[in-house]
Amino acid sequence: MSQNKKFYVTTPIYYVNASPHIGHTYTTVAADILARYHRMLGEEVFFATGTDEHGAKIEEKAGEMGENPQNFVDKVAAQFQMTWKELNISHNRFIRTTEEKHKTAVQGALQQMYDKGDIYLGEYEGLYCQGCEQYKGESDLVEGRCPDHDKEPDKISEETYLFRMSKYSNTLKEKIEKDELKIRPLDKKKEILSFYQEGGLRDISFSRKNVSWGIPLPWDGSHTAYVWADAFLNYLTILDWSGDTEKKPHFWPAQLQLMSKDILRVHATIWPAMLLSLEQEVPQEFFVHGFFVIDGQKMSKSLGNVISPQELRDRYGVDGTRYLLSQATVFGYDGDIGWEKFDERFDAYLANGLGNLVARVLSLTEKNFDGKIPDADPEKVGELQMKSEEGDLGSFKNVSRNFVESYQKKLQKKSLDGAIEDINYLIGACDKHISALKLWAMVRQEPEEAALHIYSLLEMIRIIAWLSWPFMPDTAENILSKQGFASSQEARNSFREGVCWGRLKPGQKVIKGDPLFPRLSK
Ligand code: MSP
Repeated sequence: MSQNKKFYVTTPIYYVNASPHIGHTYTTVAADILARYHRMLGEEVFFATGTDEHGAKIEEKAGEMGENPQNFVDKVAAQFQMTWKELNISHNRFIRTTEEKHKTAVQGALQQMYDKGDIYLGEYEGLYCQGCEQYKGESDLVEGRCPDHDKEPDKISEETYLFRMSKYSNTLKEKIEKDELKIRPLDKKKEILSFYQEGGLRDISFSRKNVSWGIPLPWDGSHTAYVWADAFLNYLTILDWSGDTEKKPHFWPAQLQLMSKDILRVHATIWPAMLLSLEQEVPQEFFVHGFFVIDGQKMSKSLGNVISPQELRDRYGVDGTRYLLSQATVFGYDGDIGWEKFDERFDAYLANGLGNLVARVLSLTEKNFDGKIPDADPEKVGELQMKSEEGDLGSFKNVSRNFVESYQKKLQKKSLDGAIEDINYLIGACDKHISALKLWAMVRQEPEEAALHIYSLLEMIRIIAWLSWPFMPDTAENILSKQGFASSQEARNSFREGVCWGRLKPGQKVIKGDPLFPRLSK
């Protein structure tokens, strides 16, 4: 991987009408894992997240809470910032759409679109769902109601400025077809293309006359900008873009914009059309993950089944939460989650899996080899066969190389759960090897032979720590420090060398220390 390769990844900016929940956390943790992975590859990474703070929905919520909108959004935005800090999210910047710099840049951008005739005054009549902050067609409704918010949309008829989106319909359709704007998973690309085929893009209302909590249009202060127009521009303003079409921010276009299916349509229509109008490139990829359903039911306040990131962290710790979310469903598809499943997986994969393997091998090393990494030729012991009841799995070196390769391919495809499966395979293979050899007896009966296996297992654990690092940075650092490596969150930017077989230094002191993940049942 070249040093200069860029990786700009974004999450949606979240509405501040409610506190962060597990859905927001899922997207943000996923973006963090990918950002950390690309940093490990030595790439130049920018990871952006933030909050979407304007619009009628937020204004109404502030009113319900008896607060002025600014005070209200300040409080909720602070909750998002705190939550991400507590979950070890490594974003480069957190943007709020109420920041002065963002507001000025949005005004600059809209003015240019207006000046070139892409925004014009007209009338708009349609159905508007305030929950989505979107206009709806009859075909978007189920029995006349918005399926996401279970509400009848409002009928709106007002003077508005319209965005001449229709002008960009054919160009965008082509870009999506050719994967110049890649939409994944593929079924989502098909869905969007059929939307383009059915009627293409129509001009869209881009301002509101009766919503005061927004950014005033610079040429007509009696209108505020449509909240999505304001929000989309965050992906550029977070890069210090001033709203000038001539300026091309260093990190733009984004390599990856993550979101869930609820907001793909707007992202794949309005946003790239705005970019074309602003003479900017379209993003390289939208990756759309699924929605969580909790024990078979939609997550909702009224059902009382909303899971908060704080609850997850209290029960599973920071890394446990990050791990369980990444493993929760096939990334890109809906999935059913729940406390029982999380508990089972925590015990199975973290306490009994990774935690137990590390404790077992370090304990054997402490008790039988004076707590030091045994003397061995890494190349030679790399050729030892990994044993299992089903037969040999291949040499340590080959198994590790194959799974590192597979892990990389999966993360390239954003298969977070797939990469975790590879890590779990390696953990399982080490466990099987220990059992097949009866290593606990071998250390006494054939200590010289056992020393070679201990070296290989410790080396495999070191590689597992590197692979786990984007998912569970603290745990990975902890494992590496138990093996005598200095803790260095910053220096984990040499993935290739890090996962190369044979880096453990014989004679280095190891410390078993506390368990990584105490079992929940205790
Ligand atoms: N403010 C807009 C986005 C503007 S981006 C320019 C918005 N905000 S939101 O708070 O509603 O966030 C929606 C996003 O939160 C989803 O696309 C997804 O990333 C995440 N999730 C919210 N609920 C979710 C689930 N139940 N399951 C998985 N993720 C979901 O839309």
